[in-house]
Formats: sequence, C-alpha cells, structure tokens
Amino acid sequence: MGDFTTILEENGVWLNPRIRTQVVKAFQESDYCLEDLKKAFVGDDKLGFQISKAINYPLLPPKNLLLTVTTKCNLKCKMCNFPTLNIDNELPLEKWKELIGEGYEMGIRSIVITGGEPLLNKGVLELAKYGQKKGMYVSMQTNGILIRESQVPLICESINNIGFSIDGLEKNHDFIRGKGTFQKTLNAISQIKNQKESLEVYVVTVLMNHNFKDIPKIIENMKKWGVDKLNIQPLMPNNLDYTKKDEKQSLWVKPENIKELGAVLEKVKQFKKKGVKIDNNEYHLDRFTPYFKGELTPSDFECYNGFKFISVWSTGSIGLCLGQIGDVNTSSLKDIWYGEEAYKIREQIKHCKKPCMQNCQEL
Ligand SMILES: C[S@@+](CC[C@H](N)C(=O)[O-])C[C@H]1O[C@@H](n2cnc3c(N)ncnc32)[C@H](O)[C@@H]1O
Ligand code: SF4
Ligand code: SF4
Repeated sequence: MGDFTTILEENGVWLNPRIRTQVVKAFQESDYCLEDLKKAFVGDDKLGFQISKAINYPLLPPKNLLLTVTTKCNLKCKMCNFPTLNIDNELPLEKWKELIGEGYEMGIRSIVITGGEPLLNKGVLELAKYGQKKGMYVSMQTNGILIRESQVPLICESINNIGFSIDGLEKNHDFIRGKGTFQKTLNAISQIKNQKESLEVYVVTVLMNHNFKDIPKIIENMKKWGVDKLNIQPLMPNNLDYTKKDEKQSLWVKPENIKELGAVLEKVKQFKKKGVKIDNNEYHLDRFTPYFKGELTPSDFECYNGFKFISVWSTGSIGLCLGQIGDVNTSSLKDIWYGEEAYKIREQIKHCKKPCMQNCQEL
C-alpha cells in the first residue's frame, strides 16, 4: 500500500522494516482511510492516536516521557506498592540525560519526573535543568517532604510544573501517608509559591473510600494552599502491576458509599463549571462510579497506553501496562518504542478486559 507508507514517510514516521507488513495490513483492515491519515498529521491528534491504536503502531510522538528516576521512597503510603520494592541498580544521571535527548529526537516535548520519591535521586534537579535546556517542558511529581529551603530556588528554576500528593484533609491524608506529612507537604507548596508565584502547582489526590468526602473541601482550599490545579486519581488495586485487580479492598470505595461518591463527583463537576482547574474531564469523572462498582467495561473507556507516553523504569526497562517492551541499557528508545515487542503488547492491550482508569491514558 504505497500511499500509506508514503504519507508516513512524508510526515517523518519511521516504519520499522521488521513489522512493516503487519502494520500496513492492519491499516488496510482498519476502519480508517488515507484521508483520515492525512488529517491525523495536520493537527488532529485524537484521530492520530485512534489510528495508531487500530494499527498497533505509533503515528504521533508520545506526549510525555515519564522518568521513574528511583523506586525508593521516604514514605510508606497505605495505597502504594512502591515501598515493597528494593531495587538498587538505578540508571546513572548521564543515561537519563541521554534518554531525554533521544526522546527529543523522537518529537517528545515534555518530561515527567517521578518515583518512588524523585528527590531521593541526588541528580534529579540537574536532570530537570538539563531537560529544560533541551527544550522539554519539565514536570515533577513528589510528596514534597524532602524539599529543603535551600533547594527551593533551584527547583523553581528547573521545573515548569510541580505536582504534590494530597490524599485528603489533614486527618485522612496523615492516616494514609503518615503523621505530620500533610503539614510538611503544605509547607513545601507554600515555599515554592513564595519563591515563584507563577510556577504551576498541581495536586494529585488518590480517591479512596476513607477520603472521597474530603474532595470538595480540598477544592475549596486550593487557593489558600497555593494550588493551581487538581487531578483526582481513582485508587488502583496495585500501582506496580496493572493486571492485579483485586488488592487493597479495605481502601476501595464500599458499595454502601457509591451513592455518596456520585454526589461528590457532581460537586466536582460544578466546581469545574465555575472555572476551578480540575484535570479530570466529565468523561473521566463519569466513569469513577462504574469503576468502583466493578462494572466498567473496555467499551466504556478508551485506553491509549502504549501510545500517549513512554515510561522508563529506574533500571532502564520500558514497560507498557501489560508487559516489558525493552531495556534502554541494550537498545535505543526509538528501537524499543517502534519494535516488535511493543507491537505485540499493544495488540494485547486492545483486549484489556478490566480498564484501570488511569486518566493519563484517555485522550
Ligand atoms: C507513586 S507516586 C510517586 C511520586 C511521589 N512519591 C508522590 O507520592 O507524589 C505517584 C502518584 O501515584 C499515586 N499513587 C500511589 N498509589 C496509588 C494507587 N494504588 N492508585 C493510584 N494512584 C496511586 C500517588 O499518590 C502519587 O500521586
Ligand atoms: S505514593 Fe509516593 S510517597 Fe507514597 S509510598 Fe508511593 S512513592 Fe512513596
Ligand atoms: S485500561 Fe489500559 S492501561 Fe489500564 S490495564 Fe487496561 S490496557 Fe492497561
């Protein structure tokens, strides 16, 4: 199918010769035509990701490069699986920098630095600064506890957008994250804002049974705390292994609370309508209730794992939610992302039976 490959070539998409035949065949068998393909390359990103999904091959650069610069952590939050890990062989700073360069070459313009607790990686701020110099928009997700006053100027210089975790008002947050952590995180936010008002600060709240009723109050307090934006993340049964769907039952929203959850989500929508910056769109918010009821089906939730971001693990392995696709110690980011293993796992992702509701995956 000459025209298909010509359009890809004209738009700078590398078609891996090893899987070329499968990709071309998948496009021929898809519901998309060459006109759609052309539209995808002139600004219709949504269509671009949809066609990519249909053919198991990325046509557009991922939106983000997610760097898990360490899996170690200073906290033991009740809902998080990272504290169960004990991994030492983290990539050195030079390798992380190299990856940012490779990502840039692939057309990625945004990096998200996370962990574990990213500030436990001594080189993290140098890395952020390097990312910015390379032309990346740099975000970091942190619990905020380790931020020292002396680091605040460098953080504000090196990062475009910083996310803190707040999992409820003080009592419920501290129940999950440890005594005193709420005040320490708020203190970190205020130090950042005092240093640089214009730096965007967002908060991630994991929605669980014990804390969902706090969400309207969190929203009401955002301004006072110096928070610009909120992202509500429904609890995952296991945030290291998406295939495990039945853990953490004690934190899961209980059936008797589902109705009240619905009412809270309606309030969230009202706040959004009034202009409060809340990342979750209505599409996402409307799926929280069926998710917690265990009734969400694949046709209810479009997932773009494998297309929207590349996630590099602290050791250098790259995984999609359903399996590893390569290792940057032995292959380039480009070879992994456009490789045969990625092609296979993307095919499996299409058949995911129980969506995990990570909002970063929907368009
Ligand atoms: C793994 S943490 C790493 C960054 C940093 N340590 C922090 O807590 O913000 C990234 C995000 O995942 C969230 N998280 C942890 N466990 C989760 C779970 N079981 N389901 C959904 N999100 C979870 C955290 O609350 C945090 O917002
Ligand atoms: S959520 Fe963040 S702070 Fe809490 S244990 Fe996990 S990695 Fe650490
Ligand atoms: S919804 Fe997507 S990211 Fe989540 S488990 Fe299914 S395929 Fe993976």
